[in-house]
Amino acid sequence: MAVLVTGGTGYIGSHTVVDLLEHNYDVVIVDNYVNSKPEVLNRIFKITGKKPRFYEIDVCNEQGLRTVFEKEKITDVIHFAGLKSVGESTQKPGLYYSNNIGSSLTLLKLMHEFNVKNIVFSSSATVYGVPDHVPLKEDDNIGGCTNPYGETKLDIEYILKYEAEQHKDMNIAILRYFNPIGAHKSGLIGEDPQGIPNNLMPYITQVAVGKRDHLNVFGSDYKTHDGTGVRDYIHVVDLASGHLAALRKLEEKPGLVIYNLGTGTGTSVLDLVNAFEKANNIKVPYVICDRRPGDVDENYADATKAFKEMGWKAKLNIVDACRDSWNWQKNNPKGYDK
Ligand code: WQD
Repeated sequence: MAVLVTGGTGYIGSHTVVDLLEHNYDVVIVDNYVNSKPEVLNRIFKITGKKPRFYEIDVCNEQGLRTVFEKEKITDVIHFAGLKSVGESTQKPGLYYSNNIGSSLTLLKLMHEFNVKNIVFSSSATVYGVPDHVPLKEDDNIGGCTNPYGETKLDIEYILKYEAEQHKDMNIAILRYFNPIGAHKSGLIGEDPQGIPNNLMPYITQVAVGKRDHLNVFGSDYKTHDGTGVRDYIHVVDLASGHLAALRKLEEKPGLVIYNLGTGTGTSVLDLVNAFEKANNIKVPYVICDRRPGDVDENYADATKAFKEMGWKAKLNIVDACRDSWNWQKNNPKGYDK
């Protein structure tokens, strides 16, 4: 009765594995460490006292993944594994398509081969493209993605939609994340981007810890209350619990379900900087710069469907996330590197 977590040593994956273990799920992780490190497993043990079974395998590796299905009694899959850098995807679209879509197709093939019916898929609000209104609902238009990364998430959603149509006994949950931030309260696991962070919060924490000189605020002429971009920042611990809620939902409702995982509240760049400074009593110097290509003015969720149908909603707020992100960064100034 094992839950297979692909990409389980990544940022969201590791937080979800901790939650699964603390709820006594039997967890098997498959990860190739393309964007994570073996140290994460030690941290998961420190937090939970448990060691999930682990296979260092690329999900695209059909034979390698088949051995996992042969050895383990997998009943559910949570599929995090995938490349996720928007910027990199514009430079290496072929890699993103082959990796993200190829791994998903390989996983689905083996799920059928071993009669595994339940899958929770890590999708993204980026599938909504450039929204013409907010908050975004699950039945709003999708498409018009501004980058290959977002296109791969959209394409995998379509693949899962057709899977559900062709296989009436498949139980599929698509979770559209908004902007994950924060870290486990222990400060033992957190976001550890490689190189210069693309995302806002890890950049803020690297400025705060002295690794970066200042934050570049990309644009102050957006149609928002303070001119800076507005997003829906959701604590990664809430995001993790949303996956356990989805697993439970799959047990009660066959077919395909789609949920936004967000807070339903928009926060601007400067709001987040100010919240971080206040929560941690730290100055974060910043410079206003030009807009980043592809950014939108506002993007935040209508999260009511997840609450109505799964009883799930975000419990932690921006201040909690700012505190927990800093707690992770100040205790791990080099991330998982020693
Ligand atoms: C947030 C805001 C920037 C960095 C991306 C992906 C999305 C999802 C979450 C995977 C924007 C501003 C940022 C910086 C800044 N990832 N910013 N200075 O772009 O909303 O979403 O990450 O699923 O798919 O698109 O997140 O954190 O990059 O940007 O001013 O150094 O912060 O302009 O307004 P984004 P982000």
